[in-house]
Amino acid sequence: MKLKKQIVQWHDSYSVGIHLVDEQHKELINLTNKLYEASIQGWDKSKDAFMNTVHAAVDYAGYHFSTEEKIMERINYPDYLSHKKEHSDFVKEVLRQVQDFQAGQKVSANDFVLFLKNWVLTHIAVCDKKMGLYLIKLKREGALHNITMQIKQETPTGAEGVRLIIK
Ligand SMILES: [Fe+2]
Repeated sequence: MKLKKQIVQWHDSYSVGIHLVDEQHKELINLTNKLYEASIQGWDKSKDAFMNTVHAAVDYAGYHFSTEEKIMERINYPDYLSHKKEHSDFVKEVLRQVQDFQAGQKVSANDFVLFLKNWVLTHIAVCDKKMGLYLIKLKREGALHNITMQIKQETPTGAEGVRLIIK
């Protein structure tokens, strides 16, 4: 079996202690690797695959951020607004870079993938971990015991309800 090239791999230390969020982070890492694979094949060869994956990644990131924001709202997270701003700043920056790609500007696909990788890992390690620790603290205090939270939202592939179970 041919080994796929990866720029980033999931590690258990990235876990924020919320299964649903961890699974979504794994998918973001998977999409980052797909972009990496396309970027190293040369722009002419992989432009279409790269752009398709960029659009899939933008959709998935929006879906994932919305999950986290619903969790933060649900637990009255004190840093909700600053965390949400990190998400929207990231989306703006990605869309700006996508526009550059579409306008045919000479932008490096490799730089874009590196930006993505660094942002995702730093955001998980700092902001998302902080959110996870807050949720764990609430659970320890008994404030969130045995709560099943229904998050209704659209997935990139269609309507779907997402369940967050806090035990
Ligand atoms: Fe986040």
